[in-house]
Amino acid sequence: MSGPRVVWITGASSGIGAALAREMAANGWQVAASGRNRERLDALCADAPDAIHAFVLDVTDGAANNETVAAIEQQLGPIDLAVFNAGIGSQFSVTRFDAADVQDRMAVNYGGAVNGIGAVLPGMLERGAGQIALTASVAGFRGLPGGAPYSASKAAMIALAEGLKLDLDRHGIAVSVITPGFVRTPMTEKNRFPMPFMVDADDAARRIRRGLAAKRFEITFPRRLSYILKLLQRLPYALYFPIIRRVARL
Ligand SMILES: NC(=O)c1ccc[n+]([C@@H]2O[C@H](COP(=O)([O-])OP(=O)(O)OC[C@H]3O[C@@H](n4cnc5c(N)ncnc54)[C@H](OP(=O)(O)O)[C@@H]3O)[C@@H](O)[C@H]2O)c1
Repeated sequence: MSGPRVVWITGASSGIGAALAREMAANGWQVAASGRNRERLDALCADAPDAIHAFVLDVTDGAANNETVAAIEQQLGPIDLAVFNAGIGSQFSVTRFDAADVQDRMAVNYGGAVNGIGAVLPGMLERGAGQIALTASVAGFRGLPGGAPYSASKAAMIALAEGLKLDLDRHGIAVSVITPGFVRTPMTEKNRFPMPFMVDADDAARRIRRGLAAKRFEITFPRRLSYILKLLQRLPYALYFPIIRRVARL
């Protein structure tokens, strides 16, 4: 008989990732939780010591991703589900455009997911089974004021997920893209602008777990914000720019 299923979650030391780790553990999964901060990971593991296990990792380090996957699979068994959730936020000032800082968003959010996929995919392909999920954002649906680098990194993740789904379906590997609106976490704590329809991290984690269990390609919430942004996504520039200028008072 096969043992409990194994999920690897990056960015699990805080916010949505930590809530998802607890949610998956409560639903019978063995959870490999990654992040850079050892103390916060240890605190998370203390919530469910038999189910959540810390694997310290900086997702921008390609070789370290490979080593982490090898360590997880040796300790817990083959990874059934990998959730690439590590990310850095959206604070950005165009008048202090710092190329390195802009590149960082891409290196962590998109590059981190790519490194993780590179590490976990060979095993999944060999087994002909597995599931991969990328935490993007509704901010990836369109370029947004004050968040161009973040939107760019999340748009790249959405496009990556769409293409991978088409390629991996026939290999028995499911792909999902998670596009949350505002979730109450340390990332959004810093924001000084209105965040409509915000949800708690535990609520987000429940929605993500259910979407993953159903192997839905797109897991997006809260619906109200997501649908508004999807509508904006479909507008021609002649309408999109004036609407956003008015809403953002630019
Ligand atoms: N909160 C929202 O409203 C919202 C909305 C849409 C999408 N998202 C996305 O959801 C994901 C989680 O965000 P959150 O709100 O939960 O933010 P958070 O509380 O700030 O958590 C971010 C996580 O990413 C990890 N991380 C950052 N850089 C890393 C690196 N180089 N290597 C490894 N881990 C790294 C952090 O861990 P360490 O610091 O320990 O490394 C932390 O665990 C992100 O991808 C974010 O873009 C959030």
